Amino acid sequence: MPKVYIEGLARHVDSDVELNGWIYNKRSSGKIRFIVLRDGSGLCQCVLVKSNLPEETFNLFDKLTQESSIKITGKVRKEDRAPGGFEIELKDLQVISIAEEYPITPKEHGVEFLMDRRHLWLRSSRQHAILRVRHEIIKSIRNFFDDKGFILVDSPILTPAACEGTSTLFETEYFDLGKAYLTQSGQLYAEASALALGRVYTFGPTFRAEKSKTRRHLTEFWMVEPEMAFFDLNEDMDLAEEFVEHIVQTVLKNRAQELKFLERDTTKLENVKRPFPRIHYEEAIEILKKKGIDFEWGNDLGGTDETVLAEQFDKPVMIHHYPAQVKAFYMKRDPNDSRYALAVDMLAPEGYGEIIGGSQREDNLDLLLERIKEHNLPQEAFEWYIDLRRYGSVPHAGFGLGVERTVAWICKLDHIRETIPFPRMIYRNTP
Ligand code: 4AD
Ligand code: MG
Repeated sequence: MPKVYIEGLARHVDSDVELNGWIYNKRSSGKIRFIVLRDGSGLCQCVLVKSNLPEETFNLFDKLTQESSIKITGKVRKEDRAPGGFEIELKDLQVISIAEEYPITPKEHGVEFLMDRRHLWLRSSRQHAILRVRHEIIKSIRNFFDDKGFILVDSPILTPAACEGTSTLFETEYFDLGKAYLTQSGQLYAEASALALGRVYTFGPTFRAEKSKTRRHLTEFWMVEPEMAFFDLNEDMDLAEEFVEHIVQTVLKNRAQELKFLERDTTKLENVKRPFPRIHYEEAIEILKKKGIDFEWGNDLGGTDETVLAEQFDKPVMIHHYPAQVKAFYMKRDPNDSRYALAVDMLAPEGYGEIIGGSQREDNLDLLLERIKEHNLPQEAFEWYIDLRRYGSVPHAGFGLGVERTVAWICKLDHIRETIPFPRMIYRNTP
């Protein structure tokens, strides 16, 4: 008998199959019992008819608690009224494990209660939908770069120095070699790889000891970072908008059901098509001033500023040419006006803030050395990175997209904590 998954039942109508799963819920009606089974791929109604089953099997029904695991066999029938559109007429049922009283019930639970039980909360339909969208986003990211001929290069997690400034480093002892730090970004290694392979991307977990307790910050999050030799800021922005369009349109196409379940208004996502507006920092300040926001030149954009700016547009917006003083040491200054960095941030619509940060990199040896001094970074630790400017330096650029912020935006979630299976935040590192 074929062992199948609920999502594939359509291929087995009128034949006998085996399903393995957990009790989602159950109910009785006269001499008929109904079990809704979940197997991770969907929900399926199983029907137990007293006259068709050995008494022992029929009576097992009473023992089944929510989340008990079972194996069943039965015949697949098309049934439009059933969840998923199919029903199984049960022929045999075996109990694998009877679950203790399950702590999560259909009633409303507080967020902390659910977060403490995140390992079980993942079994709910809402979390299934979010994790499926997350999966689709990650897959679309990889396909996008792979199809263009980019090479995936994994960067190290344990690193000897900071990439994004020293204030948010997690540190650890590293044998006799002193301190090591959990990476904040794979970018510096992506740069070395781009000068080796041309166009690369690195994709992995990154860590920030962020003191910010906001709905946008995790201490551990996944970032994809493409890096391209012979690219300038404009080409970087071209790629970023094509990339984000691709992700959103792929999710719309392949995960319509999940977005519907999450009650996501998809008209706003359908709009996410190139070109995206590109706004110079000075223009951004003008917009903020017009909206009555008192903004001082030279500052970075805050969360509220980002929200106000993004509200002016119905698709993601790219803000470029930030003041160099608020940006990272590796960013190239605008050769025409060194107050600006050749930097870009992409802000998502609907109040989700920055999803991409990127820039053209400083490719001049002397200027890079100056920046390292200005930022009080230890030059020895960066010698290998500086070497890239000694041996065949070229203009190059790249950006980083935060996966969780992208999931939050596409699913329109209130908080980033639901975008990753086991979130790490300033006040939570369990389960
Ligand atoms: O703007 P960031 O700090 O840029 C970099 O790390 C560059 N090295 C990227 C590059 O050019 N290769 O971070 C990039 C993105 C942000 O736009 C945001 O989406 C996400 O990473 N991000 C976070 N996501 C969740 N929690 C946090 N604490 C995040 N910090 C950044
Ligand atoms: Mg940033």
